[in-house]
Amino acid sequence: MFDIDGNSAIVTGGASGIGLAVAERLAKAGARVVILDVNDASRVAQALDAFAVQADVSDERQLSDAFTRAESLVGKLDIVVNNAGIGIVGNPITDGDADVFRKLFDVNVMGVYFGLKHAPAHMRDGGSIINTASLAGLYHVPGYSEYSASKASVVSLTKSAAIELGPRGIRVNAVCPGTIRTRIQSDSDPEYALCELMTTLGRIGETGDLAGVFHFLAAPESRYLTGQAIVVDGGWSVGISCGTRQKLLDVHRA
Ligand code: NAI
Repeated sequence: MFDIDGNSAIVTGGASGIGLAVAERLAKAGARVVILDVNDASRVAQALDAFAVQADVSDERQLSDAFTRAESLVGKLDIVVNNAGIGIVGNPITDGDADVFRKLFDVNVMGVYFGLKHAPAHMRDGGSIINTASLAGLYHVPGYSEYSASKASVVSLTKSAAIELGPRGIRVNAVCPGTIRTRIQSDSDPEYALCELMTTLGRIGETGDLAGVFHFLAAPESRYLTGQAIVVDGGWSVGISCGTRQKLLDVHRA
């Protein structure tokens, strides 16, 4: 079940957080994994018996060369996880900074765009591409405009690429996580408590809550699934959580 033993995989942004958890999961399932990161990932890669390639996904040349290098290390790729991303949030649009917007787009959108542009040449037909988008690409909260726009673009690129790569049997899906405890978020962030309250399951997600979803999307069991944005958010987007309802009632009664 979920058999990816002997598959070749690359995970961008695999040196930490969600990408690292996905790389670990794929490696444990028997895939030969390349961890691509802007930082040196050789130590984490070694611990997983994986390979490390250093590259900046927002640089087309570097990413294209990195795919060539990955193919030379593990052969034609079966699984490509375009996960590298940054999160800068906080300001309303009226206080927005165009440089921040450009930076978010350079990494979050161009990084995935270049991944979708160059990875297929290094993939076997019938492979799987998984892009890390975000709940924020589908569901909007104040102060997240630039980040949300970048992740909405990832969802859009996912759907276009799914259609265009369908004839090769390459599936393209996006995972849209809610709030996940990684270094992109800080435990002291007051938004953390808000996330806990708003989430139906009443807790922040852990990277381990996501890794199995990526594994499923990489595995043959998801073979009829493409072009989808799969929300993994502990039920944040389902509706008003019990905790939120209670809090609002308490405020109203006070
Ligand atoms: P993280 O900061 O722990 O990991 C991101 C990794 O990407 C790091 O290893 C970093 O060095 C690498 N990276 C950053 N810029 C890069 C670049 N230009 N080229 C190559 N590598 C680069 O963050 P996390 O949380 O694991 O984020 C992974 C993805 O998940 C991102 O796309 C993020 O937007 C998305 N996401 C995260 C959520 C969360 O609550 N943590 C929620 C929704 C989406």
